[in-house]
Amino acid sequence: MAIAADPQLRVGLFYGSSTCYTEIAAERIAAALPGHAVELLNLAHTPLRTANDYPLLILGIPTWDYGELQEDWERAWPQLAEIAWSTKTVALFGLGDQEGYPEWFQDALGYLAREVRNRGARLVGLWPAAGYRFAQSQALTADGSHFVGLALDEVNEFERSEQRIRAWCAQLDREFGAG
Ligand SMILES: Cc1cc2nc3c(=O)[nH]c(=O)nc-3n(C[C@H](O)[C@H](O)[C@H](O)COP(=O)(O)O)c2cc1C
Repeated sequence: MAIAADPQLRVGLFYGSSTCYTEIAAERIAAALPGHAVELLNLAHTPLRTANDYPLLILGIPTWDYGELQEDWERAWPQLAEIAWSTKTVALFGLGDQEGYPEWFQDALGYLAREVRNRGARLVGLWPAAGYRFAQSQALTADGSHFVGLALDEVNEFERSEQRIRAWCAQLDREFGAG
């Protein structure tokens, strides 16, 4: 398809996933961005430094073990220093459990946002925090109004994910182009 061949519309979607929820969300996000050529890249098999090949990036990260990084992300973390972030437009999504871990909801999403933003990436895809129930999160913007990326909770709100993914991908369609 001509549109997908346009290198400006190539998206590298990198994710880590221990029990497949982030992987399934990644597949749904790719399907909801038909105007882009989204390549799914599992950090268990692909080095994060490969992100240098893509101008547009989506990064998917679940939070584990009371506010910790998922294990593939933890292994990949040193490679964050090897990516030319100032040339990248980046959208993030996270998986978490707001009822089981209300004081650490989506923390890893926040840690990743801080890294890529501090290294000069253009961050898009902020997502309203209204409607979620949790005590604390490192993934909120300074004014607390938004998450720094799409926050999915497949444990407690799986029925809301499809609509959230659809709305977020429509937002990315606009924001990826608005550089
Ligand atoms: C042992 C354990 C610890 C978890 N810790 C957190 C946490 O601190 N914060 C959070 O938001 N979610 C936490 N979760 C929820 C996971 O992020 C959620 O299950 C997610 O869907 C896992 O994604 P994955 O299957 O792609 O690894 C935890 C889940 C488990 C089983």
